[in-house]
Amino acid sequence: MTPVRLGFIGIGHIAIHSHLPPIGELAKKGEVVIQAFCDVNEQSAQEQAEVYGVDNVYTDHHEMFDKEDLDGVYLCIPPTLHDDVETLCAEKGIAIFIEKPQTLDIVQAVSFSEAIEKGDIVSQVGFMSRYYASSDTVRTLLQERIPRHAQIQLFYTGKPARFWTSRMDLCGGTFVENTIHYVDLLRYFLGDIESVSAFYVDRKPGEGAAPMDLPHVYNVNYRFESGVTANATTSRVLTNVSVSRREVLVVSDDSMIVWNTSQATENEEPVGGHEEGWVAFAKQAQAFVQAIREKDPTAVKSPYVDGLNSLAAVLGANESAANGGAVVDLKEMVS
Ligand SMILES: NC(=O)c1ccc[n+]([C@@H]2O[C@H](COP(=O)([O-])OP(=O)(O)OC[C@H]3O[C@@H](n4cnc5c(N)ncnc54)[C@H](O)[C@@H]3O)[C@@H](O)[C@H]2O)c1
Repeated sequence: MTPVRLGFIGIGHIAIHSHLPPIGELAKKGEVVIQAFCDVNEQSAQEQAEVYGVDNVYTDHHEMFDKEDLDGVYLCIPPTLHDDVETLCAEKGIAIFIEKPQTLDIVQAVSFSEAIEKGDIVSQVGFMSRYYASSDTVRTLLQERIPRHAQIQLFYTGKPARFWTSRMDLCGGTFVENTIHYVDLLRYFLGDIESVSAFYVDRKPGEGAAPMDLPHVYNVNYRFESGVTANATTSRVLTNVSVSRREVLVVSDDSMIVWNTSQATENEEPVGGHEEGWVAFAKQAQAFVQAIREKDPTAVKSPYVDGLNSLAAVLGANESAANGGAVVDLKEMVS
């Protein structure tokens, strides 16, 4: 088997803790070669290069693209820093894995999507929740149910781990940075979202831990194209206590399905298999590598073009909240 040659751009938290471990396992099996690392912080890239035996380290991806023959690239940088990697990959025929949120600029996302479609490359947005077995259980069950409404409740505790994830202008807020996973999951279950209306409780200067300026609360309402409605509450009020909540549920006629990463339940009875641990990242990596090997852009669960509706759904919530809860049409946002 010819190994798939991979490069990584952005060797930070998510690359180190979630993507490199499963890719490292595939490298041990000879399925991939980790060919190059690129990070503007050379030390971070060098440290991981030593761990994974990577010879080629760069601080500028242009130089990496000039010098390396790559089949695929992982792009794991903060969302305001996306520039030309997506278009370069599309032009060069290099597959690309892009962490969520894809960018905070929907116009830029649409232009990246067009380039990726034109280049006909494999692309995958990091919506790993689609890869839990419980997610497929729910999706399959719902094909035989009549869903009416859905609910996301995410009550975070603690402080944001990185400076950029504590600032609204750098991460887009908790709803964009985190809740996008569960909004995307509802799309996996229920199809595309048509419109959004949102109210937030803003944080006044001096409230809560500096330098955080993110809203306290995001209350968001969705209408899906199918007519199903959903509400999503994301709370950042519980900073200094160790209580939190993460709930994703879908209510159909006589059926309340609750999803979590290890098990789905229907009317409080377990359905489908039980799965422990962060297996979704490994399955996501495997799917990306396989799609590259088979040159099949449809072999991943969240190609870039599909992820546009999830991105519009969270950026649209911000837009609605900034405009007094006015309804935002998501198709118009991406047209
Ligand atoms: N899927 C998940 O559950 C999950 C979890 C955490 C983060 N993320 C996402 O992953 C992305 C990265 O987040 P993170 O937590 O790893 O951030 P991070 O700040 O820990 O790491 C980002 C890295 O990118 C580097 N970088 C920035 N610009 C660069 C450039 N132009 N070229 C090369 N390197 C560059 C930085 O030096 C840093 O090392 C974000 O979009 C974030 O939302 C996803």
